[in-house]
Amino acid sequence: MIVCATDTVEGTRAVAAAVAAVVVEGDLLVLVGDLGAGKTAFTQGFARRLGVDEPVTSPTFTLANRYSGSMTVNHLDAYRVETLSEAEDLAIPELLEDGITLVEWGDNILPALPADHLQIRITLGEGDDDRILQFTAAGSTWRSRSLTLAESLDTWRVR
Ligand SMILES: Nc1ncnc2c1ncn2[C@@H]1O[C@H](COP(=O)(O)OP(=O)(O)O)[C@@H](O)[C@H]1O
Ligand SMILES: [Mg+2]
Repeated sequence: MIVCATDTVEGTRAVAAAVAAVVVEGDLLVLVGDLGAGKTAFTQGFARRLGVDEPVTSPTFTLANRYSGSMTVNHLDAYRVETLSEAEDLAIPELLEDGITLVEWGDNILPALPADHLQIRITLGEGDDDRILQFTAAGSTWRSRSLTLAESLDTWRVR
């Protein structure tokens, strides 16, 4: 597991940009953390690094937003998804065929997600603006890239 710390929202966006530097088409990122942890902030920094100019906003009500940059960025929020059939309606395997997909509250719908993904858990630190980001590679594609990811995240690693 890779653990990073930030103490500003821009710091979290910069960490996300470092992750975006190592993604490939078809990647799935599962964002886990309470309301206000920084899942949307992470997605903003991520999308910006992939050349998305539009403002990235929370898809809490729309469930899914799609942005175009150097790669397509699919941004989902599973907070309100309650059943497996609702989760299946999001058609995540189809979304994954095109670009990169980030799912906030992805832990809500884990059974509907491909096993191969990077989990990013964001928790609060001691100060109001402190955040801890824990990266866990689930499945072979992220496991095989964990060194590359660790190198990209070196600036913010705490252990
Ligand atoms: N280090 C930090 N990383 C991310 N967000 C931070 C940080 N410090 C303060 N914040 C604030 O926390 C809030 C995170 O909100 P948001 O990204 O919408 O969270 P989530 O999508 O997890 O509910 C924003 O208001 C942001 O400005
Ligand atoms: Mg959010």
